[in-house]
Amino acid sequence: MTETNFVSKPFTKQVTHGRFSWQSPSNIALVKYWGKKTNQIPENPSISFTLDACRTTTSLEFKKREQSKTDFSFDIYLDNVLLEDFKPKITTFFERIEKYIPFLKAYHFIIKTSNSFPHSSGIASSASGMSALALCLMSIEKELMPEMTDDYFNQKASFLARLGSGSACRSIEGDLIVWGRHIDIPNSSDLFGVKFPHEAHKIFRNYHDTILLVDKGEKQVSSTIGHNLMHGHPFAQNRFNQAKNNLAKLSIILQNGDLNGFMEIVESEALTLHAMMMTSLPYFMLMKPNTLEVINKIWAFREKTGLHICFTLDAGANVHVLYPENEAEEIYDFIKNELVAYCQNGHYICDRIGFGAKQIDI
Ligand code: DP6
Repeated sequence: MTETNFVSKPFTKQVTHGRFSWQSPSNIALVKYWGKKTNQIPENPSISFTLDACRTTTSLEFKKREQSKTDFSFDIYLDNVLLEDFKPKITTFFERIEKYIPFLKAYHFIIKTSNSFPHSSGIASSASGMSALALCLMSIEKELMPEMTDDYFNQKASFLARLGSGSACRSIEGDLIVWGRHIDIPNSSDLFGVKFPHEAHKIFRNYHDTILLVDKGEKQVSSTIGHNLMHGHPFAQNRFNQAKNNLAKLSIILQNGDLNGFMEIVESEALTLHAMMMTSLPYFMLMKPNTLEVINKIWAFREKTGLHICFTLDAGANVHVLYPENEAEEIYDFIKNELVAYCQNGHYICDRIGFGAKQIDI
């Protein structure tokens, strides 16, 4: 597959107005995407668990404009409040995808969006938000071209979402998604996410992710700036090779259920991501004291109990605590009794592995 596969063929139908709505989940990377080339091409392949509870709901209303214009026309609402601040981000997204979605200037759009998680939680909404919007646009394209297959629909939705935010391409389907070309993953691509092609061990079914909101502030460094810091980074090439090797190892572990191997790779990936930020120029420290407290508590509890609890981090201070369903009771008690104290205002989100976006009727 190349980019040209996603240029629309002449449409067979016409549509003047309508509305489509999608609910799309967030995802948490196990092997991290950190570093990109132009056009949102990742420097290394990544793999993520699709989440379930952390979702964005987006409805896209569209109405044909009187005459075709040379500008985009849209309004965007977050929780029913008109948001001018979001406009530049959406305009950039539309500019990037216009080549693939030729009708963007033909309609006026009203985008209404809301998140299941608090806006100021420090949880990235770009993955769920951009994937939900990409899916709404694909629903319009499907209306104009009803013969489109479901596989193409999902693939192009992922392709478009990637152009909005890289990690968003891993939020269309579930439950394990690979993005980026990797020799061990047949059909994997830098252009869109694909489902992990092997059967995952049953221990990974219903896997839990309890997200501890250690710091709910605005991110200190946006991911775009963060990715750019990998250009000219002294450890960049080694890091990209490490991610490829980790994905190869994790692919086997996900099939054989070796939880010790899983925890080692996942935690190493999280710490490496932060190490890359600490060793770039300018350098950043995105962990907070409570992030370290939580990590040390997790390690001590694991040592004492032998339970399979581990953590991962995004480009921020919040901690994702990962654990299997069959150990959930004991581990959740530990989280409530010992970790929640480190969360800002005691806030945390109980999530688990999910199966991707859903079209809804609103
Ligand atoms: C640390 O997908 O937010 O979460 O492509 O610039 O929008 P852009 O970056 P983004 O980066 C996510 C980085 C990460 C790791 C990951 O999700 O793989």
